[in-house]
Formats: sequence, C-alpha cells, structure tokens
Amino acid sequence: MKLSVIGCGYLGAVHAAAMASLGHEVVGIDVDQAKIDALAEGRAPFFEPGLPELLTETHGSGQLVFSTDVAAAADCQVHFIAVGTPQQVDGPGADLRFVNAAVDSLLPHLKPGDLVVGKSTVPVGTADSLAPRIEATGAELAWNPEFLREGFAVKDTIEPDRLVYGVRSERARNLLDQVYSTAVAAGTPLVVTDYPTAELVKTAANAFLATKISFINAMAELAETTGADVTQLADAIGYDKRIGRKFLNAGVGFGGGCLPKDIRAFRARAEELGRGESLAFLREIDEINLRCRQRVITLATELLGGSVYQRRIAVLGLAFKPNSDDIRDSPAADVAVGLNGLGAEVVAYDPEAIENARRTHPQLTYAASTKEALADAEAVVLVTEWDEFKQLDPTAVADQVSQRVIIDGRNVLDREAWRAAGWRYAGLGRS
Ligand code: UGA
Repeated sequence: MKLSVIGCGYLGAVHAAAMASLGHEVVGIDVDQAKIDALAEGRAPFFEPGLPELLTETHGSGQLVFSTDVAAAADCQVHFIAVGTPQQVDGPGADLRFVNAAVDSLLPHLKPGDLVVGKSTVPVGTADSLAPRIEATGAELAWNPEFLREGFAVKDTIEPDRLVYGVRSERARNLLDQVYSTAVAAGTPLVVTDYPTAELVKTAANAFLATKISFINAMAELAETTGADVTQLADAIGYDKRIGRKFLNAGVGFGGGCLPKDIRAFRARAEELGRGESLAFLREIDEINLRCRQRVITLATELLGGSVYQRRIAVLGLAFKPNSDDIRDSPAADVAVGLNGLGAEVVAYDPEAIENARRTHPQLTYAASTKEALADAEAVVLVTEWDEFKQLDPTAVADQVSQRVIIDGRNVLDREAWRAAGWRYAGLGRS
C-alpha cells in the first residue's frame, strides 16, 4: 500500500520506517527540514534503538522517502497523522495546533476513498470534530492510537500488543487490516470501536500507568516514614497477578513527552466536559510525581549536611528513562537543574541525552563520561537507570569521588554492596 506519515518525530519516524520494512511504500512528511534531511540520508534524527537499522535497510530502495512538502502525500491512499500534541504553554490542556495544521495541509491532497488515520494522542472528541472536514473531500477518518514506548518503539510498532481502530465504516476497518496485515495475521488482539473509545483507550492507558507509578511512590513516602522497604513491598504486591510487578518501580518518578502532559490534558478535558470530579485524582498523581523529584534534591541536601551550595555533585542521567535521548519533562534533568539552582556544582552525564540537555539547560556542566562526572564528587545522584550506571562497581569508583555518598534515585543499585564499599547509600522508600 502507499502510505503517508505526517510528522516525523519519535512516533512518526518510527512508524514510517516500520511500515516500509513491512513492505508498504511510505512517504514521511515533516516541516522540519533538518529532520527530513537526516531521514532522507538514512540517519535517525534522535536516539532510538533499531531505528538506524530500519532506515539503512530501506535507504535507497524507494520504499521509504521523506519530504517537507505535503503534496508528496497526494498519491497515497492512507495518511497517518503522527504530529505532537504538547501541553499548552499557558494551561494543562493539549495544544492541538499541529494536528489541525497537519489536517489542513493534507485536505487539498485528499481524494475520495483515502483514509486519514489519527495516531497522535488527542483529547476525546477531537476525531468527531475533525471528521466533517475530511469527509468533505470524499476521504474518511479513523483513529488508531499508538502504544509504543520510546526505547522499544521499533518492536512495539512491528509487533504491537494490541491494535485499536476507531472507525465509522467496514471499509475503514478493512484498509487498516491491510496496513497491519502482518500483525493481524499474527493474531494480535484487535479492538474495533468508535472514535471516542479509541481516543479514550490511549489516555486511559497512560493515566493508569502514571497512577501505578505514583501509587508506588506514595508507598515510598510512607515506607520512608515507617522504616519499611518499598522495593520489597512492590515485589510482594506484584506477585498478585491482578496487580502485577510492572510499573511499580519507586524512584524519581515518571517523565517524558507523554505521561505527564497526557494526565494533565486528560484532566483538563474532563473539566471541559463537566466531569472534572471523575479525574480529580490525576492532580494528586501529578503532585506525588513532582514531589519525588524534590525528594531526591532534599536527600542530597540532607546527606551533604544541610546545604548543596558550592558542593560538587555528579548527576548520572538526564534522559527521562534509559535507552532514550529524550529530556522532555525529564525527572533526571529537573533534579540536575534544581540542584544547580541551589548553588551546587553539578556535573551531569548521560550516554545519549547530553546534546538535547545542553540546548535546554546551558547553565549545567556536562561530563564526557561517567568517570569524568564522578571525579572529586562529594555526592553522586543516579537518576536515569542506564545499564552503565547500574553496573558501576562501588569499590572501583570509590577512589574517584571525594566523598562516598550515593543517592539511588531509581532504586536499582545493590544497597548492601555499596554500603560494604564504604558508601553512604540512600534510595527512595528504602533506608
Ligand atoms: C509511554 C507509554 O508507556 C506508552 O505505552 C505510550 O505509547 C507512550 O507513553 C506514548 O503515549 O507515546 P514512554 O513515554 O516511552 O511510553 O515511557 P514509559 O516507558 O511509559 O516510562 C514513562 C516514565 O515512567 C519514565 O520516566 C520511567 O522512568 C517512569 N517509570 C516507569 C517509573 O518511574 N517507574 C516504573 O516502574 C516505570
């Protein structure tokens, strides 16, 4: 099939490359010339494991092309909208500017029989409001939310754990079945539904994940007060299959371009719909989450005797999670910036996210390696659980720092081993 993908960010670029690798002819479109130039040369414009290989595989084959001109979508039959829906600058709601612009730019190139497929995360009701404009061209709209995780985006796109089609006709469903024929043939669970359900599935899933994380972080707060151990607590409740152990890792909390802004937009939308009370709890989820970042800063202050001013602190991690260079709403970057704001001499290191962090936070000092970050540090703060940090040998690095103080903001280190090597160790919710 001939497909276009409008928006070549973390979602769209992976979707375009994955669809091409499944045998479709794909044109990826974005207004960002630099991004399109990189993709057209077969280079990934951001860090995503597996994406460079997919781009190399299809490069030069004609199967996957990129353009800044939306007219390149004209001879495609299915058009994916994969642009961002960031938080509004002046409020908690979603900014739909890019979705509207993408649809407006596509309208003149649509023809009867085309299918426009929304993948962006949008407030419920968006598809209903976009449909008339698309239907006026003889094309049709479907909403097909995406559940990929950064770091696993390629696998999640090629082998999704479920497919959700929000459609108004059998024809739209059949076209989507053709697009996803490989996953459909593999027996991937499929939910065929209406627009509002498809939109809500996505925001509900992210709200649930955020709630799970904040729940365990609330337990961490209680564990700290009572001397309990939140990791053991998570293990013990996680054995209950109804609860499950995944997304119960306490620490510095959730970040990224999705969970934080999605729960805020979801709550804002509920209020617009007159159902604010239904999602009022998401404000607590957000607040618990933001408290975790503050807790790491407070722990560093306490362990350094009451002030971080002019104290050298190694911050390990800047990305919102490992295997990503994404620093959007990153707890790790927030901790680094917060400590720096208190006058600490922060030296930060991340295997992939430094370039992005430097652009947004030029005031921080960046190291070229973990070793350089640790040199003469009076405290080490681990805030993104990259393997490289998890595997640090407490004995081997003990002589690199000036004071053996470690704050394990992700509860991933072997506490006993670090203590045995002479470190003062503090995790979150585990003393
Ligand atoms: C999330 C969802 O997991 C995807 O299903 C969804 O498609 C995506 O948002 C999206 O809406 O596009 P992602 O933002 O890539 O994916 O990140 P997650 O793996 O969900 O992690 C989110 C944050 O939660 C990270 O900061 C991570 O460190 C944190 N986290 C995760 C915890 O603090 N504890 C945990 O136990 C798990």
